[in-house]
Amino acid sequence: MALGSASPRMLRRPLKLRIMEHPENISSPHRGSCLNTPSMSNSSETSSIFKEAWEALKHSLVYFQHHPVGTIAALDHSEEALNYNQVFVRDFIPSALAFLIKGEPEIVKNFLLQTLQLQSRAKMIDRFVLGAGVMPASFKVLHDPAEKVDTINADFGDTAIGRVAPVDSGFWWIILLRAYTKSTGDSSLADLPDCQRAMHLILNLCLSDGFDTFPTLLCADGCCMIDRRMGIYGYPIEIQALFFMALRCALVLLKHDDEGKDFMERITKRLHALSYHLRSYFWLDFSQLNDIYRYKTEEYSHTAVNKFNVMPDSLPDWVFDFMPQCGGYFIGNVSPARMDFRWFSLGNCIAIISSLATPDQSAAIMDLLEARWTELIGEMPLKVCYPAIESHEWQIVTGCDPKNTRWSYHNGGSWPVLLWLLTAACIKTGRPQIAKHAIELAESRLLKDNWPEYYDGKLGRYIGKHAHRFQTWSIAGYLVAKMMLDDPSLVGMVMLEEDKQMIWPPLNRSISCTI
Ligand code: GLC
Repeated sequence: MALGSASPRMLRRPLKLRIMEHPENISSPHRGSCLNTPSMSNSSETSSIFKEAWEALKHSLVYFQHHPVGTIAALDHSEEALNYNQVFVRDFIPSALAFLIKGEPEIVKNFLLQTLQLQSRAKMIDRFVLGAGVMPASFKVLHDPAEKVDTINADFGDTAIGRVAPVDSGFWWIILLRAYTKSTGDSSLADLPDCQRAMHLILNLCLSDGFDTFPTLLCADGCCMIDRRMGIYGYPIEIQALFFMALRCALVLLKHDDEGKDFMERITKRLHALSYHLRSYFWLDFSQLNDIYRYKTEEYSHTAVNKFNVMPDSLPDWVFDFMPQCGGYFIGNVSPARMDFRWFSLGNCIAIISSLATPDQSAAIMDLLEARWTELIGEMPLKVCYPAIESHEWQIVTGCDPKNTRWSYHNGGSWPVLLWLLTAACIKTGRPQIAKHAIELAESRLLKDNWPEYYDGKLGRYIGKHAHRFQTWSIAGYLVAKMMLDDPSLVGMVMLEEDKQMIWPPLNRSISCTI
């Protein structure tokens, strides 16, 4: 791979992307007052961070039979490697986007083809055979110098800590295939029978009939980026948003043959139901919060307003202070008598990027981010979730997990990788200034701190207790954010416009404010 020292801008190939720029917004002064962030005084300092990041990303490449097939999760020799010496599907996404932007799509193609081969392996946990469509959470390349052979060990949750199922991997795989196709303008990869089959298998898994009463996808705890017990079992927003986005991507990638058409029909039906459900029941803003606060309970029949029989007493105290007059977000989880009011960054950013959120909802999420800058961004973007759970609740919810103590790791820790998602969401909503300030914050620390996996504390001020350094997706997330801000048209690779064909639910309450 010729990643040398030439600047990525010079190497970038012209991308066949739909231009989606907001030049008027890029130069407009920011309207929030919360953004007094340290800015990099020196642009040469910024460009040296950028160069160092590319160098580090280059070093993270993993080769299989002399071809790059992914990037290692972390190149930190000071911490115990555990499975951080593997290629994680979700971790590879920002790396893949960086390589696509740089005009190096081969590695992404290799990764997509390699992982679909892993998908076709027989997968067992003890005596239980896993679904055919499951994509691995991660894989490790083993080099045997004596025999001169490389082999791959994949983890489908069967060796993962806690045996967590990687529900997000298949969705990310489809999303990446669409990004590859959009960025290269080459649909021949997606059209390959193997790629079509891989998509069919993933879709079969998540569209199959069951006992569901909701269109959302029922999941076990820890099945996504938050891959440990954190009380996100049920219908976590991260998975629902990725599910929505992957379905929309599949719709454009599927071939119009008999099997493809059948899937397209099933996808369209599910998308209608899913968007209705998420936009109506997961959405929380000031007025919705007030409605829940006054909910009646024990309502029976179709006319019930409080459909999930949520007890107003289950509303946590913090949410009343957290909710600004102006703004809103998709809450963490909704199921019978249970609403998890926590904010989750990944799900909300994906909701914006995929147009799961209506334009008003997207604007409201950005309003919330501005209004709650200290809580959600603080000194290091971006909190994985907010707020942290503490004390007895932490004991019950996490099972006393010492990695997930309050304001650390998955429990309110700050993850630089989320910067690229935030930036894409900011550009889509025409608020690039928010991303600019967030990137400046990250730039003031990331390189100096050797690219930590996450930061701890209410403001994200401290390097995470058990954070690995040289965490590849922290590096790639920064690079992608920076390049997207520099050239907003790049967001087209991951962004999906609102589909006007779909009948969206009328929202009967004000979801955002006009200032
Ligand atoms: C942690 C994260 C997970 C990530 C993995 C490798 O387990 O929670 O999302 O994929 O590290 O970086």
